[in-house]
Amino acid sequence: MTGPMMRFDRFVEEALYGLRGFYTQGGKAGVNAGDFITSPETSTLFGGCIAVYLDRIWQELDRPDPFIVVEAGSGRGTLCRDIFLSVPQCSAALRYVMVERSEVQRLDAFDSVAATCFLDAEEAPLTAVKDLPVGPLTGVVLANELLDNLPPRVVQKTATGWSELHVNGGLDEWHPAPQNAQNMATLLVPNAPLGTCLPLHLKAAVWVNRALNLLDRGRVLLFDYGLQQTADFSERPMGEWLRTYSQHHRAGNPYKEAGSRDITCDVAFDQLPGFPQIVTQRDWLLAQGLRAMTEWAREQWHDSAAAPTAKALAARALLDEAAALTDSEGLGAFLVAEWRVGD
Ligand SMILES: C[S@@+](CC[C@H](N)C(=O)[O-])C[C@H]1O[C@@H](n2cnc3c(N)ncnc32)[C@H](O)[C@@H]1O
Repeated sequence: MTGPMMRFDRFVEEALYGLRGFYTQGGKAGVNAGDFITSPETSTLFGGCIAVYLDRIWQELDRPDPFIVVEAGSGRGTLCRDIFLSVPQCSAALRYVMVERSEVQRLDAFDSVAATCFLDAEEAPLTAVKDLPVGPLTGVVLANELLDNLPPRVVQKTATGWSELHVNGGLDEWHPAPQNAQNMATLLVPNAPLGTCLPLHLKAAVWVNRALNLLDRGRVLLFDYGLQQTADFSERPMGEWLRTYSQHHRAGNPYKEAGSRDITCDVAFDQLPGFPQIVTQRDWLLAQGLRAMTEWAREQWHDSAAAPTAKALAARALLDEAAALTDSEGLGAFLVAEWRVGD
């Protein structure tokens, strides 16, 4: 797609979700045949921790039945599968809605979760839909690595104000930003040095508002990479926070060969509405009891490390997965934002 000049966010929208977009054509997370690895694809422990969280929230909400969990950007359904396989206490009340924009992933995920977790797929308390359902609902809206895939606008500080990124024939072009984008950028980073580039997450903010409005009581829980403050983007080159991936490798220039690669942006969490509580993924997973969940593996490995058995090696692998999920230089540094609704 070389096409006409387009504002960057519109270009990304087409490049990811258009007719020949990256996700439309089947781009996905996953170790084998995937393009990138996410926390659910790293370990079943991630889903195990979310199952613990869901039980706590179900209790806090006085055990609603139905207890609706909406997972947005559910991809291959791995997180949903691991939550059901954890058999949480809320299972009998749990109704799970996978929301996935990519049709191929949505259909595959439904079939695979239903076949893995339920004897009768027809009776599975599970649906897979293209967009957020209609509320009001009582429950939890959650998403892992969704916001970074909601196309941002991008602006750059110049001597005369802010310019906005456009794409023209595979090249980047900067044009004076409209007043609303100028105002937003100035409010976010009033004294930005010349040359500062920033993402403006209008789509992500609108999406979070929709998620909040879906609930009468419950929580919105979002995991993603990014920074708490937009101002902190001004110290980083744009190529660091706006990235492309294909088949597990960084894939270079985002303006070319649209549809051939994922385009993703670190999230500036201060641009999201409301006042979420924000912690790192490492702290969040530990608070759900990740250490206790892996205690048996530590003991198993400790007892047999000198002459490892197959069971000890499996235990070692689980400990490695836990370390990857909580690594402060990697997945553990992701941010977890939680909004409380109705209490
Ligand atoms: C980076 S992947 C993450 C997949 C999965 N959550 C995981 O952690 O492995 C982002 C997913 O969000 C989906 N997506 C993007 N925008 C969406 C939207 N507005 N509603 C639902 N899904 C969306 C994409 O199609 C893609 O499958």
